[in-house]
Amino acid sequence: MALSGNETLPPPQHIAIIMDGNGRWAKQRGLPRTAGHAAGAESFRRIANYCRSLGVRYLTVYAFSTENWKRSQEEIAGIMRLLRRYLEEALQDMEKNRVRFRFFGDLSRLSPALQKLCLDAQNRSSEYDVQVNFCLNYGGRDEIVQAARQFALQVAAGERKPEDLTEDLFEHYLYSAGIPDPELVIRPSGEKRVSNFLLWQSAYSEYVFMNVLWPDFTPEHLDEAIAEYHRRNRRFGGT
Ligand code: IPE
Ligand code: IPE
Ligand code: MG
Repeated sequence: MALSGNETLPPPQHIAIIMDGNGRWAKQRGLPRTAGHAAGAESFRRIANYCRSLGVRYLTVYAFSTENWKRSQEEIAGIMRLLRRYLEEALQDMEKNRVRFRFFGDLSRLSPALQKLCLDAQNRSSEYDVQVNFCLNYGGRDEIVQAARQFALQVAAGERKPEDLTEDLFEHYLYSAGIPDPELVIRPSGEKRVSNFLLWQSAYSEYVFMNVLWPDFTPEHLDEAIAEYHRRNRRFGGT
């Protein structure tokens, strides 16, 4: 396993990234926003491969939020087209790339074709080194509300009692069920906010905000973020 950031320390097992800054990257070049999203998709491929080579087990990426529907029809259609193309190619190369996919978010609002691609990718089980959790039409608040709704339905059906609910049980209803929380959350683009990403799971994550636009994000930036993570003193409320 390659080591990163600090020669003696392994990388986090779960890294999450808010892939932000595609629009500004395009604007800097006088290109349409969709060109920024295409460049962002390339950046994602590069970083996913790099994470696999480092031995990172889970990579969770924010690709489209529940709030991103506020954008123009043209931009949304462009993003959806890129996602379709990416997943079609990824499905063919899954075994070769030793990657497994999971999707976090309410997929029901996506086109039937895109939903089918997501399900096909998710259901394909094979040997893998890295699991990519793709956040699509994802919102942290939406995730918590749908989890609460599922639990309430089970209570109403007499399958559970209100007092059964614990933090551990609640996690079973989240999109991330069974996946360890990310140790590190990275947000490029210079913005310093969470924008409704992994609200439950990042309770004790280390955040690294970086002044680079996502399409310009390189493996060296990831090394830098991991090195910063290793310099942090995680206390989890203790001393
Ligand atoms: C992130 O880049 C991609 C999505 C939100 C889909 P943006 O499109 O938000 O880029 P900026 O923030 O406008 O630069
Ligand atoms: C967060 O970025 C969502 C994704 C990267 C998919 P946004 O660009 O939507 O966030 P805000 O609007 O700057 O908070
Ligand atoms: Mg943005």
